[in-house]
Amino acid sequence: MIANEKSAPRLVSLFSGCGGMDKGFEQAGFQRVWANDFDKDAQAVFRLNFGEIDGRDIREVPVDEIPACDILTAGFPCQPFSNAGNRRGVYDSRGELYLECLRIIERKLPKAVLFENVKGLISSKHQSGQYLIEVIKGDLEKLGYAVNYRVVNASDYGVPQNRERLILVAFRNDLGKRFEFPPVQLNKENLTLRHILDIPEDVPNQVYWPYSPQAQSMVEKIPQGGSWKNIPYEDLSPRFKRIRDDMKRYHAPNFYRRFSLDEINGTITASAQPENCGITHPIHNRRYTIREIARIQTFPDDFKFIDDTTKNIVAMYKVIGNAVPCHLAKVIGDAIMEQAFK
Ligand SMILES: C[S@@+](CC[C@H](N)C(=O)[O-])C[C@H]1O[C@@H](n2cnc3c(N)ncnc32)[C@H](O)[C@@H]1O
Repeated sequence: MIANEKSAPRLVSLFSGCGGMDKGFEQAGFQRVWANDFDKDAQAVFRLNFGEIDGRDIREVPVDEIPACDILTAGFPCQPFSNAGNRRGVYDSRGELYLECLRIIERKLPKAVLFENVKGLISSKHQSGQYLIEVIKGDLEKLGYAVNYRVVNASDYGVPQNRERLILVAFRNDLGKRFEFPPVQLNKENLTLRHILDIPEDVPNQVYWPYSPQAQSMVEKIPQGGSWKNIPYEDLSPRFKRIRDDMKRYHAPNFYRRFSLDEINGTITASAQPENCGITHPIHNRRYTIREIARIQTFPDDFKFIDDTTKNIVAMYKVIGNAVPCHLAKVIGDAIMEQAFK
């Protein structure tokens, strides 16, 4: 559905990043009336593709300056909740950014709210000892919403990437229903790398961030479908030898995963480091290009990342890795449109 300026539900987008979630909601027929992110790189990419974005820290934005909306989306920062990071949870001030969402929801009372976050949020505890997700659910219920949440794997919804994320959808009580998650896709054959890495030459942004000499020499010894475990012990650096010597202590890390053409890629992370995500091309001994990770994140090929205003290639990996896959957002957006706005 193409957004109809007059009747399309109005969307306020918080923590918009470069606009992965916004792209999907646009495809689902929502009309964005306001977006916000304080990261300069994210803003530059957002402007290239969508136009204006408010660049202030959300904590400094008076609620009166935010327009009325029918839906509010927010993928508040993941780090405090990430399983990979420390477990300070809400003790980290960034963990309280969801309170900013509540401050705005309380005043705007949109029909629907969508929160997106890392899977780790589900097991994070609040100071009170309660699970944080239950605290968030309770807060929304107090504001008059019916809440449903679930950890979803993006590949269950047609995204060529195994990426687990928490999705929470709240419907205002007067709708008289709770959001129902759409059915999952069982046949994932078309999601393997073979189906997405064949990119026509004229598609822009086919550039990559080279590996350090040490990473490059490791990558060259790893077959497709393998990882650092395929590298002979004697070829490892002293640091990696230490880890190999005591795998239990280091929780048997799966560094330098290199997915094969017949696999679905793992989660693309903002740091784009081979130590923490599958970021090496199956056949070529290099990091994925900007366009390749954009495809794994289901950005359309006409979505622009690099031009004269956004030359920082490392920042492009960051904003793409931070994004909600556009197609996941579209599938959830379609379901919200169907259930809350028709
Ligand atoms: C996980 S990313 C969101 C990605 C986005 N949902 C997408 O699909 O592309 C979180 C974003 O929150 C932004 N952010 C963090 N703290 C913020 C704050 N206090 N005010 C405004 N933006 C903030 C970061 O700059 C980052 O781009």
